[in-house]
Amino acid sequence: MAAVARVAEPQTPQPDAPADAPRADLPRFDRVAHLYQAMEYLSFGPALERCRFHFIPALTRCRRALVLGDGDGRFLARLLKAAPHLHGDAVDASPTMLRLLEARVKKTGATQRLNTFRSDARCFDPPDAHYDLVATHFFLDCLTEPEADALIARIRCHVAPEARWVVSEFQIPAGGWLRSAMARGIITFLYAAFRLLTGLRVRRIPPWRALLERHGFRRTASPPWLGGLLVSELWELQRATAPAQKRSHLR
Ligand SMILES: C[S@@+](CC[C@H](N)C(=O)[O-])C[C@H]1O[C@@H](n2cnc3c(N)ncnc32)[C@H](O)[C@@H]1O
Repeated sequence: MAAVARVAEPQTPQPDAPADAPRADLPRFDRVAHLYQAMEYLSFGPALERCRFHFIPALTRCRRALVLGDGDGRFLARLLKAAPHLHGDAVDASPTMLRLLEARVKKTGATQRLNTFRSDARCFDPPDAHYDLVATHFFLDCLTEPEADALIARIRCHVAPEARWVVSEFQIPAGGWLRSAMARGIITFLYAAFRLLTGLRVRRIPPWRALLERHGFRRTASPPWLGGLLVSELWELQRATAPAQKRSHLR
């Protein structure tokens, strides 16, 4: 990938290098990368985009961002444009998605502030950075609960005090059986579609709120969209929180 800027980081993994052998259960989003945006607009219009972009005005002072599974880079490109001092590390397992991301960032003139890592985020060990922002838009739902737990625990060791974590996700809204049933149906359908298209094996959204809380983050803002089917939330690491030690399943 040509348009990758390197920040002087002696640690492994190196930008743009496959950091580890791909696991058999890694979904292949390459297959849908070029159609992803069109598929999204056809099914949900601009709603997902509203989620992704909602908190960008509140993030313009961030200096170092880790963006996991950003896909075609719509969030990171816009963030780099809005935050002129920000350097972004983008991790994605799909080379095609990363190429789209790089092309998008190049158009904003921010290539020098971008590192890309073609890596399975479940094994990704960040460079020795103190990220003050982590972003996962519609990505944690690609992980099982133990995988999401392990990932948050690992990333937690690489963030600055009071770092923020922005999450967008589908959810089953509380209140009203009809709304909940419809949301459940849509989410089940989406998982089935992505299983068919990409081989994604996950079947349910992990309890990411409980996991973030467990690792010392607290929610600071949370506007819902589409009757609660979509949510974007801003979380902040609480001061003096030691990384969680024991693992347990959360419900
Ligand atoms: C559902 S798409 C979401 C893309 C984008 N964040 C958005 O807001 O639409 C999931 C993205 O995460 C990537 N992904 C899924 N599992 C991954 C993993 N284990 N490691 C790295 N990237 C992964 C896929 O390649 C894809 O780009």
